[in-house]
Amino acid sequence: MKTLQVKLKDHSYPIYIGNGLLSRSELIQPFINSKQVMIVTNETVAPLYLQTLRNTVAAAGVEDSNNKFLVLPDGEQYKNIDVLNRVFDELLKFNFGRQSVLIALGGGVVGDLTGFAAACYQRGIDFIQVPTTLLAQVDSSVGGKTGVNHALGKNMIGAFHQPVAVISDTDTLNTLEDRQLIAGSAEVIKYGLINDKDFYVWLEGNIEKVMSLDKAAMVYVIEQSCLNKANVVQRDEKENNIRAILNLGHTFGHAIETITGYTQWLHGEGVAVGMLMAAEMSRKLGWFAASDVERVKKLLQKAKLPITISNAISSEKIVEVMGVDKKVQDNKIRLVLLKSIGSATITSDFDLKLLYETIEAFQE
Ligand SMILES: NC(=O)c1ccc[n+]([C@@H]2O[C@H](COP(=O)([O-])OP(=O)(O)OC[C@H]3O[C@@H](n4cnc5c(N)ncnc54)[C@H](O)[C@@H]3O)[C@@H](O)[C@H]2O)c1
Ligand SMILES: [Zn+2]
Repeated sequence: MKTLQVKLKDHSYPIYIGNGLLSRSELIQPFINSKQVMIVTNETVAPLYLQTLRNTVAAAGVEDSNNKFLVLPDGEQYKNIDVLNRVFDELLKFNFGRQSVLIALGGGVVGDLTGFAAACYQRGIDFIQVPTTLLAQVDSSVGGKTGVNHALGKNMIGAFHQPVAVISDTDTLNTLEDRQLIAGSAEVIKYGLINDKDFYVWLEGNIEKVMSLDKAAMVYVIEQSCLNKANVVQRDEKENNIRAILNLGHTFGHAIETITGYTQWLHGEGVAVGMLMAAEMSRKLGWFAASDVERVKKLLQKAKLPITISNAISSEKIVEVMGVDKKVQDNKIRLVLLKSIGSATITSDFDLKLLYETIEAFQE
């Protein structure tokens, strides 16, 4: 098992990464000791891992009457205020107090919603992230962004609320669909591109090991990803500046996800083609080598991630939606672009024509 520590001004918390961690009661015990505990999960994850985690919570000394759970419907469309309210209903029904703890067992949807419930309930209670998708283990469970979607925008209602611990059991990835695993690897590649050239080079040589869930490789990949994310979040917890580099590819990707109604593209898939667009745009600006754009394309292809979009998604529509993305400041689209592999920068200083040309180069 690997242990990392996220060190923030007001809170510090451990990330545990390894196999078999779901049943290690000593890891969770310090955070739930004699407290009321509610595990929040969804209908896909519950039959796979809920019982194991409930047993672990019991083994950590939480009595039955304080060992509750809530199973939510599965899907991004349920990451909303109505479903959030169901968590509050349940907590109030069982008289959960300020000393209680929520445990998010699932992917990023469950993690974001549960974290936000913890941020709001009685003005903030503790929560533990037990991420079960690659995306959640390398990205959403770390850093304290929590929230739900609004009909008018993704992740628009939320709060910064850090977990008290993150427990990433790599065994849970064995049941994940390949497409979800692949989508999660886009965020992994992102860390290499924005912050960590050595890691990027390692991924170029070893991405197959990630795809085949090689045990040692998974622990390494999750560890390096969390280290990179923690490194950025520690410098800028509330995204006043540098944290925005974590959004490489996301402004493009969110637009594609939004236009296609969140049904055709997984988040990581949109991010993948978005990162390639950002690389190409950086090349057009003279910042990034053409040979490096090729390298990015090759790695995404090796990971079986998409590198083009349908021409049914118009560039006008993409730019329009990018304009309403929450990374917009002073009415200008701000983009995360690349200076080299391992180094990103944020800019709004570019010609819109370049942006159109970039997007159009990826339509087919
Ligand atoms: N808070 C952040 O910093 C942050 C960062 C990135 C993404 N996000 C959010 O995360 C969400 C996406 O997360 P995701 O990709 O994990 O999606 P998800 O939570 O929808 O999970 C994907 C699918 O896998 C299923 N699943 C989860 N664990 C499984 C397992 N072990 N075995 C089998 N199936 C399993 C889920 O039920 C779901 O159907 C989005 O809402 C996004 O906005 C948040
Ligand atoms: Zn993302």
